Amino acid sequence: MSNRIVVVGSINADLNLHVERHPAPGETLLGSGGNITAGGKGANQAVAAALQGAEVAFIGAVGNDPYAEPALEFLRSSGVDLSAVSESEETTGLAVITISQDGENNIVVIPGANALVDCDYVSSHSDLLADAGIVLLQGEIPADGFKQAVHHTMGRVVVNLAPVIDVDRSSLLEADPIIANEHEAGLILKQLGVGIESTDPHDLAQALLEAGFASVVMTLGAAGALVADSSGITDITTPTVQAVDTTGAGDAFAGAFCARLVKGDSLINAAQHAARVGAFSVQSAGAQASYPDAQDTLPAV
Ligand code: RIB
Repeated sequence: MSNRIVVVGSINADLNLHVERHPAPGETLLGSGGNITAGGKGANQAVAAALQGAEVAFIGAVGNDPYAEPALEFLRSSGVDLSAVSESEETTGLAVITISQDGENNIVVIPGANALVDCDYVSSHSDLLADAGIVLLQGEIPADGFKQAVHHTMGRVVVNLAPVIDVDRSSLLEADPIIANEHEAGLILKQLGVGIESTDPHDLAQALLEAGFASVVMTLGAAGALVADSSGITDITTPTVQAVDTTGAGDAFAGAFCARLVKGDSLINAAQHAARVGAFSVQSAGAQASYPDAQDTLPAV
């Protein structure tokens, strides 16, 4: 088995709209921006991992349209192997992102070509999956593609089910760890039929362990993260930084986390590093454009 991370996921063109505050339902606001940058939760995580020195390959699809090249820019420049990325007649995945002045975002995603990453497509890359040290998955591809990716994995499965889509239960429970924020954790528990009143991160993590996950990494934004497994729950502190744009910060965390995990770091050490990478990324605009490489100085805790 290799030390390669294989990401089976989405590639989007991000249309970035800057507003003072998010509009209320039915309200029209004037904004600025309108630029296209590289995004997609899968691509973001792949780029973040590659920039931290990991060998990364991608299984995905883009369209045969003007959005494909900007969407692939950082995947190419960071050295991600794109031999399993196909070009289709669909449009490239598109994300419309509204970023308010405090750095918080709202996102609507049109899957486009990402919808082609289904059971058959993933199966056609079974060799790549079987040889991967880590297969990293999100929720922006079809559920049958997700299930098939887990099926072919001989190494470790890491899942960041964002957005939370309905997936095969036993495939989901292969995640070690499941990476989720508090909101996603609640939805995953609901999907697994677990009712929980508490929104306390420790309670959510404990419930995810009891539901059958071997390990849990919960991202808590400016409050840090936590790592939970059979040996207990550990809080991870994140550096305090001035947030300009939080788009893709969770992806920066997941990618950097896997880059360390595949090299043999413990869950806790990998999460400590990932928290610093995530904090670095919120200090400038965009998703992939804001990610550090191994030479950048990360903010200290
Ligand atoms: O997590 C941020 C990402 O979500 C954006 O890059 C956008 O493409 C959506 O997939």
